[in-house]
Amino acid sequence: MTREKPKNLWLSRWGFILAATGSAVGLGNIWKFPYITGEYGGGAFVLMYLACILAIGIPVMMTEIAIGRRGRGSPIDAIGRVVKENNGNPLWKAVGGMAMLAGFMILCFYVVVAGWAFAYTVKMLDGSLAATSVEALGGVFEAHNAKPWQLGGWSVLVALLTLWIVAKGVQKGIENAVRWMMPGLAVMLLILVGYAFTSGGFSAGFDFLFSFDASKITGEALLAALGHAFFTLSLASGAILTYGSYLPDNQSVARTTFVVAICDTCVALLAGLAIFPIIFANGMNPGAGPGLIFMSLPLAFQQMPFGTAFGVLFFAMVSVAALTSAISMIEATVAYLNEKHGISRLKAAAGSGAVLLVISLLAMLSFNLLAGWTPLGKNFFDWLDYLTSRWMMPLGGIFIVLLAGYALRDEIMRDELNLPPLGYALWLFMVRYVSPVLILVVFLHALGWLMIDPVAQWYWIAGALVCSRCSARCCGHG
Ligand code: PFF
Repeated sequence: MTREKPKNLWLSRWGFILAATGSAVGLGNIWKFPYITGEYGGGAFVLMYLACILAIGIPVMMTEIAIGRRGRGSPIDAIGRVVKENNGNPLWKAVGGMAMLAGFMILCFYVVVAGWAFAYTVKMLDGSLAATSVEALGGVFEAHNAKPWQLGGWSVLVALLTLWIVAKGVQKGIENAVRWMMPGLAVMLLILVGYAFTSGGFSAGFDFLFSFDASKITGEALLAALGHAFFTLSLASGAILTYGSYLPDNQSVARTTFVVAICDTCVALLAGLAIFPIIFANGMNPGAGPGLIFMSLPLAFQQMPFGTAFGVLFFAMVSVAALTSAISMIEATVAYLNEKHGISRLKAAAGSGAVLLVISLLAMLSFNLLAGWTPLGKNFFDWLDYLTSRWMMPLGGIFIVLLAGYALRDEIMRDELNLPPLGYALWLFMVRYVSPVLILVVFLHALGWLMIDPVAQWYWIAGALVCSRCSARCCGHG
């Protein structure tokens, strides 16, 4: 069998791990994970999230990396080549197209949230956040969003930085950037956890994150955990598959996946350990929702010794995390234009950047001039989020595991994953039976089609699956 020759490869052994961890660690870990953990009640949610990372995140990530490396190209090209090797239907390439589009669309609203983090680094420094109540800080946040030039300016800055790094290439741009940014991020996070440790609220924060209350395990929380596991590992959005296409042949897909997933999870937990103690030490509500880091946290910082300096450090850390994720969202598109159409990376980045700016402009304007434009009940920003997280990511996830688990010849994935027999059998079981069923449940639930308790649905679906594989002998349903 002739393997596709790689056009780009990570330079160092750590290249993939740093870049993929950079993709995975982002606003999802530092902004979203703490607030959804707060909303769903702490330790029980953390446990469900960890289970989802193991049951779905890791098998799906292994699949994406393996397909990327096998096909050596952007999601469309890599899937196309792997399917061709299998003499399969070229229509599977559409899965790669959808993933690429999802990554691009996520970036269109992600630059806005990343822009908040950049702006708040400066606001923390110049004293604009010196308010005395969460409500007043809510006012500051609204005022920031009400000015299109201000909101847009920060988002455009994030977009330009992202495009500049991507245009410079895989090794000189992305790998060089993550080589500095990821260790920097780790140091900032550890300093902040150390600071939280001295805040007086550490044991309350720790208990909140890790004490387990079984009554908090609900179907709703489980589904939130599952959806978040997908987002936080950057699955089904072209990023991991494209980064996998640059992975040298001698590196283990399973080992690198585990390292990335463990780093991502540790960052999420450490972010929780940096944030919740400070929230508790200042008597605030951990379940404050999406405003947790932009409204509650700045106030908490102000009430603490050296709070301004640590607040600046916190938002600088969020900005770095967001930037390394943003880079990965557009890499698939740039790689595609570069490989398929022979356009230089610079021109590909400029062209896709122009489209990005137009679309993300609409996302920025959703907070001010276009706030009243809500076709079918959602503004443009919310539509991007809704379409990607509710439709494109779950569908992309299902199709990728169906491709690897059912459509491809066994030897292709076996060869690429190169696992011991038991490890391979476990991976196959997960991508054939566990991941597609769980993702389908999330998908249907997210669309509001499963009206009864989703936990009960899981029993139902598991039962149906067993029934379809057995004969009437085993359960009488035939
Ligand atoms: N994993 C990123 C985060 O947790 O913020 C989000 C993300 C990055 C989603 C890259 C999709 C993607 F392609």
